[in-house]
Amino acid sequence: MTGSLFAVSDLHVSYEENRKVVDRLHPESADDWLIVAGDVAELFGAVEGTLRLLRDRFAKVIWAPGNHELWTHPSDPVTLRGQERYAALVAMCRDLGVLTPEDDYPVWRSADGPVVVAPLFQLYDYSFRAPGTSTKAESLRRAYDAGVVCTDEVLLHPDPYPDRESWCWARLAETERRLAAVDPALPTVLVSHWPLVRQPTEVLWYPEFAQWCGTERTADWHVRHRAVAAVYGHLHIPRTTEYDGVRFEEVSLGYPREWRRRGGEPQPMRRILGGEP
Ligand SMILES: [Fe+2]
Ligand SMILES: [Fe+2]
Repeated sequence: MTGSLFAVSDLHVSYEENRKVVDRLHPESADDWLIVAGDVAELFGAVEGTLRLLRDRFAKVIWAPGNHELWTHPSDPVTLRGQERYAALVAMCRDLGVLTPEDDYPVWRSADGPVVVAPLFQLYDYSFRAPGTSTKAESLRRAYDAGVVCTDEVLLHPDPYPDRESWCWARLAETERRLAAVDPALPTVLVSHWPLVRQPTEVLWYPEFAQWCGTERTADWHVRHRAVAAVYGHLHIPRTTEYDGVRFEEVSLGYPREWRRRGGEPQPMRRILGGEP
């Protein structure tokens, strides 16, 4: 194996400057895989076009949904909501040959042996509560008072579930079932848009935003499911950290105003595994 497993997220291609960054995303070798950890775009057609372009370049593309793909945006001709929209995104990916959380998890053949790459869709359940609050209602109230409310409240519909946390909990049960079926001898790379643990949200400028960033119920998944790396995005704070000895990689590009502040030409593609000489 000479290729690398790369990852990127939050390409947000509705911004022209970000489309130019995507134009420059190319593999280093014909064997390279690319993980795309959500927030490609809001419009269905833009998600499809971007994934097609990346699939044409990389040996394998693995996608997990972000909140923006799940929005039902008023200007999107695709008007599906919630679970139906997710199912349509999965069907579109299958037509393209892009892997999703609904497919068999692919196995990356590293120099150290096989590693299962598991794209996950787990959403959030408001359990990363705002500081000093203990219920979802209090936490949401705090966010509204602070004027820090995720657009998901308006555009991410949970249909047919009564609310987003119910959809999240259904996703967790289904995902736990899938992960439990993985060969226990194999390590994993866990890929999700929202971080599996809360710690990455502790550096958010607005702590009230954390409630839209994950769930306490996945806090031990990286340990229980033998992750050698956990890949996420959503926070738009690209960095590498470590929890319980497991490497966490936030691989987001983010909005132009964010990556411009960091200076230089953005190089959002992060090597997760591989690159051995
Ligand atoms: Fe994003
Ligand atoms: Fe996001």
